[in-house]
Amino acid sequence: MMLKTIILVGGPMKGTRFRPLSLETPKPLFPVAGFPIIHHHVEACAQVEGMKEVILIGFYQPNDALNRFITQAQQQFKIQIRYLQEYTALGTAGGIYHFRDQILAGNPDYFFLMNADVCGDFPLKEMLQFHMKKPASTYCTILGTEATRQQSLTYGCIVESKDTHEVMHYVEKPETFISTTINCGIYLCSPTLFGPLEVEFKKNLEQNYNCDYNTAPAKEVIRMEQDIFVPLASTGKLYVYHTDRFWSQIKSAGAAIYANRHYLDLYQKSHPERLAKNSVGKPQIRGDVFIHPSAQVHETAVLGPNATIGKNCVVGEGVRVRDSVILEGAVLQDHCCVLDSIIGWNSQIGVWTRIEGTPNDPNPNKPFAKIETTQTFTNDGKLNPSITVIGSDVQVPSEVIILNSIVLPNKELSGCYKNQIIL
Ligand code: GTP
Repeated sequence: MMLKTIILVGGPMKGTRFRPLSLETPKPLFPVAGFPIIHHHVEACAQVEGMKEVILIGFYQPNDALNRFITQAQQQFKIQIRYLQEYTALGTAGGIYHFRDQILAGNPDYFFLMNADVCGDFPLKEMLQFHMKKPASTYCTILGTEATRQQSLTYGCIVESKDTHEVMHYVEKPETFISTTINCGIYLCSPTLFGPLEVEFKKNLEQNYNCDYNTAPAKEVIRMEQDIFVPLASTGKLYVYHTDRFWSQIKSAGAAIYANRHYLDLYQKSHPERLAKNSVGKPQIRGDVFIHPSAQVHETAVLGPNATIGKNCVVGEGVRVRDSVILEGAVLQDHCCVLDSIIGWNSQIGVWTRIEGTPNDPNPNKPFAKIETTQTFTNDGKLNPSITVIGSDVQVPSEVIILNSIVLPNKELSGCYKNQIIL
């Protein structure tokens, strides 16, 4: 069997809810549990037998960070990885149609299609087995999971035939309740999917024949969910495979903390060697903690649960870190405390300072709870409680408290802040 994986990485205008962290690095490369978000995707698909190639499709200009990621992941997973750049945002299916020749080269039997902005314990082998048992004319199997009624409204919703798991009805972000089964943004596709993509592409061309190309969206734009899944429902070509394993979107910085926690938890089974252990002369570790080998952590620090300390970070005496991600080069000076927060690249936190957020997690004790998409602001213009995010190269002085705030890069703070966006 010959398989490929396509990862949709989006582009510079995407990931706005992830600011200020996505100002520094493309969101798909943001590190979660010590590795870029899409490293976890590549790792999952590389474990499927027959996987020959991973193609990243996006509209970022090729850049050093992306190249470094590709080189490193190719070496680690011994798999070919390429980046194909769209000339503009072509939508969630336009890019794969545009690059169909590259995708179909070598005649893959099937290909996985993965949104970059999701995380999870992806059941790819199980999806493959499921898909192969469906009629040979099947175009696509969608990975689905259960959400609450309220959560479902912000996702693609699937109504299925209970016996066969065929998708009978598909609505993207419905205005009223449709179904608690939601689309996880992970698909297994047969090459025949290019049939309906071609039909949609030609329809777009005809409809936009006379339009003004300066103002109209690119005629090649195809949206997988609305343009392909909606009409394919009830035709016997589209199925849903259910998972109850960990899965979440990563839209906001808060979701990155959630993803961090769950990927660290997965390491217990998949990569126990990545988790820090307690030993004499080493910091105190509580629960799941990842410490990059190059980080310097004082033996009196107390870390975890759910803490990630990035490359070249310095963590001083008596520091406390819990449910947080500390990014490359950050310095946590003695006795500071970081809870439910992200500390940006090369930022400095002063002695005895407290950085604290409020987790945006509806149900922290349920492992499969999806992250709630809360708005940044309440209806009366106040900032909703959120995790605290310190952008890159920020200086936070000693003995201050920063609570539920977002600090943009390159700031030098001079006091305490609560529920603020510091521009
Ligand atoms: P939002 O709630 O508006 O973000 O919608 P969504 O959750 O349905 O996500 P969206 O469809 O915008 O994106 C899903 C995934 O596809 C993300 O990983 C995006 O980065 C990626 N994506 C979205 N649009 C494009 C596109 O035009 N080209 C490429 N290559 N990727 C895209």
